[in-house]
Amino acid sequence: MSCPTLPIDRLHPWLAPLAGFSDLAFRLLCREYGASVCVTEMVSAKGLVYASPGSRDLLSTSSADLPLVAQLFGAEAPFLAKAVSMLRKKGFVWFDLNMGCSVRKVLRQGAGAAMLNDPDNALAAARAMIHAAEPGTVGFKLRLFPGEERGPFSRLREFSLRLQDEGAGWLTLHPRTAAQAFSGNANRDALEELASCLSIPLLASGDLMNAREGLRCLESTGVSGLMYARGALRDPIIFEDHLRLCRNAPPRQRRVAVLRDLALRHIRLARELSSGLSALWKMRTVIPRYARGLPGARALRDRLCRCTDWPALEEAVEEALDISCSMDENRSSNNVKPDRSPAI
Ligand SMILES: Cc1cc2nc3c(=O)[nH]c(=O)nc-3n(C[C@H](O)[C@H](O)[C@H](O)COP(=O)(O)O)c2cc1C
Repeated sequence: MSCPTLPIDRLHPWLAPLAGFSDLAFRLLCREYGASVCVTEMVSAKGLVYASPGSRDLLSTSSADLPLVAQLFGAEAPFLAKAVSMLRKKGFVWFDLNMGCSVRKVLRQGAGAAMLNDPDNALAAARAMIHAAEPGTVGFKLRLFPGEERGPFSRLREFSLRLQDEGAGWLTLHPRTAAQAFSGNANRDALEELASCLSIPLLASGDLMNAREGLRCLESTGVSGLMYARGALRDPIIFEDHLRLCRNAPPRQRRVAVLRDLALRHIRLARELSSGLSALWKMRTVIPRYARGLPGARALRDRLCRCTDWPALEEAVEEALDISCSMDENRSSNNVKPDRSPAI
């Protein structure tokens, strides 16, 4: 039986892999705002094969969490192939290999962006994953090759074409080198050049902090689709904005009531889907991002730091944002602009 293909076009924005953040609760939240495809946090292929509980937890999912791409990292073909086979038995269909992570712990294992230093090994790893999966179900997430931050992108082009020949289903490019990490600007010329020479879809990543920027990137580079990363972390409503802008509708106004619903929904999903307190600690750092720029945001952050159970966390958010909501309503009935305009 052939697999359905993943939607990769301007009307189907993806949620990027975000280690520490693109967990099940956040993915479901982003899907509610319009994310079409989500990618898991990166998971160690070796960790999966050796059944490390941490790796297994990173892949927890549900029937509402589809379509889902499982992202692996690792540099050894046999572990990657085995991890794909194991995950297929659990029902996973789509896979991605991280060839772009610039975190030292990953680079030290020869994985992530370090794979670009040894293209033959990287291609062997890619081949092993592709052979272990259904045709067209494995993608690869790349960065620029060392020294190619300003082009020419010849090594990137050659490597990408070889991945395409091996049977890659799609590629994603974050057009910075690993040495750049997140500094400088994502090089849109590299996206344009790669999009023009590939016959498989190319997804853009990099500096897509709001939906207008996302659409600008799609139009100026000719890529097939894109994935939001830090833009979604800061504001998951980015997906709804993206879809609105595609229909020539304006982005959603970030009234406090909208941000309150967003924060409470995220808390409820996290509470429902997690056991243990680590999800609670994480939410204490996530919620202040949604309240950024609102009156009382700092007091809320301080109060959240003292919350040690879910009811206290919800109560803190409800109380703080209810106060902001009534200020917002007064302001709008007086025809004054809300403090925080859409981040676009
Ligand atoms: C907190 C964080 C975690 C990330 N984790 C991953 C990851 O697990 N796998 C991966 O391929 N990229 C990861 N990335 C990179 C993003 O997917 C994305 O390519 C990068 O942030 C550039 O996009 P942006 O500038 O729009 O944020 C991560 C980025 C951030 C900020």
